[in-house]
Amino acid sequence: MSRVLIWDLPTRIFHWLLTIGFFVSAAMALTANEESSLFTAHMIVGIMPGVLVLLRIVWGFTGTRYARFTSFLFSPMSLMRYILGIWNGSEPRSIGHNAGSSYAIFAMLGLVLATSVSGLLISQGIEAAEELHEISSYLLMLVVVAHIVGVVWYSLRHGENITLSMFTGRKEASADEAIASSHPILGMVFLLLISFVTLRLFQNYNGTTRSTTFPGLGITIPLGESEGSDDEDNDDD
Ligand code: HEM
Repeated sequence: MSRVLIWDLPTRIFHWLLTIGFFVSAAMALTANEESSLFTAHMIVGIMPGVLVLLRIVWGFTGTRYARFTSFLFSPMSLMRYILGIWNGSEPRSIGHNAGSSYAIFAMLGLVLATSVSGLLISQGIEAAEELHEISSYLLMLVVVAHIVGVVWYSLRHGENITLSMFTGRKEASADEAIASSHPILGMVFLLLISFVTLRLFQNYNGTTRSTTFPGLGITIPLGESEGSDDEDNDDD
């Protein structure tokens, strides 16, 4: 056994950009006044995790061994066995995602997408979106806390710094368990693409129309808090 490559670079970049996007947009939303420019920044930053998850879904079907969804699809029975194993101290160490983390991961991917999309729909005046945005964002915070507690618990239990492996991509395993390449070029393209999109969303912001434009696609994204459809002063234009 030696330290071999497990997580490719696109997966690692996805993870840390998602973490930054989550904490920055959550901090902005929890501290900013809804009329402030900081809140507008929250709406722009909040688009980024949604885009990241869409790219991660593509990578989940096309990526390397442990990044593929099929490598961490576990039945509810496997989850029960894993939880029972935690209870009696017999749950095994895992190379890729384990049954416990996999359910949290799928929940986070779904909730991030729901939070980003519902956030965008609020500005379109869809009232139900506001409630969905609130519910999904608080649920996401809960799952993220559970995820971090799980990571700390696993690291202590197995004496292995798995957070570090999300940076280096490496874990203690046998050579035949390693992935062949970390796909560094794709990882860099991924990083540049997300940075470019986020930067352009800020640059394209128009304070008069309270909207921005998605780079490359030319789609206008309204960012003003639209009043509900039952208001007389509906300002659609
Ligand atoms: C500082 C806080 C965080 C740490 C230390 C951390 C650490 C980790 C680690 C070690 C893994 C691999 C788990 C495994 O072996 O199964 C992982 C996976 C993951 N984490 Fe985190 N995480 C953090 C924050 C977050 C946040 C805020 C989110 C979501 C908003 C998140 C979403 C995910 C996802 C989706 C995966 C799966 C990665 C993939 O396969 O693409 N993490 N995290």
